[in-house]
Amino acid sequence: MDNDEWLRVDGYFAEHLTREDESLHTLRGRSSEAGLPEIEISVAQAGFLSLLCGLVGARRVLEFGTLGGYSATWFARAVGDRGVVTSFELDPHHAEVARGNLDLVGVGDRVDVVEGPAAESAQRLVEAAVEPFDLVFIDADKPGNPAYLDLSMQLTRSGSVIVVDNVVRGGEVANAQSDNASARGAREAIEKIGADSRLESVGLQTVGAKGWDGFAIARVR
Ligand code: SAH
Ligand code: DHB
Ligand code: MG
Repeated sequence: MDNDEWLRVDGYFAEHLTREDESLHTLRGRSSEAGLPEIEISVAQAGFLSLLCGLVGARRVLEFGTLGGYSATWFARAVGDRGVVTSFELDPHHAEVARGNLDLVGVGDRVDVVEGPAAESAQRLVEAAVEPFDLVFIDADKPGNPAYLDLSMQLTRSGSVIVVDNVVRGGEVANAQSDNASARGAREAIEKIGADSRLESVGLQTVGAKGWDGFAIARVR
């Protein structure tokens, strides 16, 4: 099995199960034209996260790492017009492109793109004692993962779900000797999750449009 075959299967599933509509396609194009890296979640991953939102009846979603607002759009649709998405983004250009995209797609009114370092933005929400989030998607800088996990624990409730993206990284997560800062961030987050008795968790590898990667998924007991 190689990446071409994984892509072919991703394409087949995207055709029959998780369709990307015209506006999501446009959003991708606008982001790439604006010079943003093409590292958003795949269609299949978006479908999975969307399904997860439905399963937990998510009305409030928190995201670390907005990029051009691709995953935020899926979350916004999943929470429905009475739901809200808060998404943290460090890069002002990414935040600006994302806001434009979200408005264009018609979900700008239910997505709050918060500009600045995610740890500081999250800490402010903790201090403001905001209503807990139903689902958190951690997908910003990978070395920040352990801190984002701690903050997420303070921003959720029993039954909430926390998903960490890009924890496999071509298998590097299982290399204890790795000197890659992202892989180390993934390992630290995984081990923190595993050691936390408040969390029930699983690591799930994925192949396809994002190569060989995966999610850590945890549910607050
Ligand atoms: N969730 C997006 C992809 C996010 S890519 C999607 O699937 O569509 C990661 C994003 O995190 C980038 O836009 C990057 O600028 C942002 N980022 C990096 N470091 C950050 C930090 N410290 N705080 C907030 N965002 C950060
Ligand atoms: C990278 C970041 C991501 O969030 C992702 O999904 C894929 C790649 C990166 O920084 O390379
Ligand atoms: Mg990611």
